[in-house]
Amino acid sequence: MQVISSIPDFRKARSDLRGTLGLVPTMGYLHEGHLALVRRARLENDAVAASIFVNPSQFGPNEDFTTYPRDMDRDLSLLRVEGVDLVFAPSPEDVYPPGFDTWIEAGSVSQRLEGEHRPGHFRGVATVVAKLFNVVQPDRAYFGQKDGQQVAVVKRMVTDLDMDVDVVVVSTLRDPDGLALSSRNVYLTPEQRRVAPIIYRALCQARKLWEDGERSGESLRSEIRRTLEQEPLIEKIDYVSVADASSLEEVDTIRQPAMVSVAARMGRTRLIDNVLLG
Ligand code: PAJ
Repeated sequence: MQVISSIPDFRKARSDLRGTLGLVPTMGYLHEGHLALVRRARLENDAVAASIFVNPSQFGPNEDFTTYPRDMDRDLSLLRVEGVDLVFAPSPEDVYPPGFDTWIEAGSVSQRLEGEHRPGHFRGVATVVAKLFNVVQPDRAYFGQKDGQQVAVVKRMVTDLDMDVDVVVVSTLRDPDGLALSSRNVYLTPEQRRVAPIIYRALCQARKLWEDGERSGESLRSEIRRTLEQEPLIEKIDYVSVADASSLEEVDTIRQPAMVSVAARMGRTRLIDNVLLG
């Protein structure tokens, strides 16, 4: 496994590869969710690249960029075990050298939900993902359904800008109690960790209502809110959404495929999760 930080060196190593290349973009502090993407990429490609880059431009001024968990040595040994060929681990200066001034603005799909609560977040995501695609030149790129809106934004960008990459979406990996794996789960206190699965339970209740024939977006939204509001450790619900899965426009009457998603705060931790209908 080659670990490379400079863009010219990475391009050189990439040009020595033959066959298809799968890319797994990450911000590191890897867990089984990330590794599920790597395993899928390993199955489907001749070679696999992963990137580890905590992307400053997708964090807001009051967000956790400086304290975001990092453990490069551990990440590299996990990737080595999975048979990754190339790791791209640039510094912020490699990605955003002085004078950098070109950004990708994903349109309305990036303005809603996370976009409303994290202004500029998807501009940073779309820009860094486009740069990663340009440097790595993958045939396929792997993203987790955990970040459902990120998937919608990346797919929109790939279509609109004619990028020659297949976006592959991998289902959310969860702890046995339902909590979606996330690098940020380390911020939870033991008590918060104990109640955090309520978010997935509320999403599953909504999915069950839909399976039983409920088609009103508003009914599902209010059922989810009712469940979450019963838990005092959930300090703030940022949003509860039932939206079209690709445009992320809220729906009155549910037609498939739809995404039901939640963002809620417990102390300093913001948890997001979603389930798909249809
Ligand atoms: P990061 O949060 O490190 O996640 C990297 C990839 O792992 C994303 O595609 C994310 O959706 C996926 N992932 C995270 N938790 C998962 C889980 N429990 N199950 C399945 N997949 C999961 O997302 C980012 O980094 C960044 O925004 C990035 C795309 C790298 C751009 O900076």
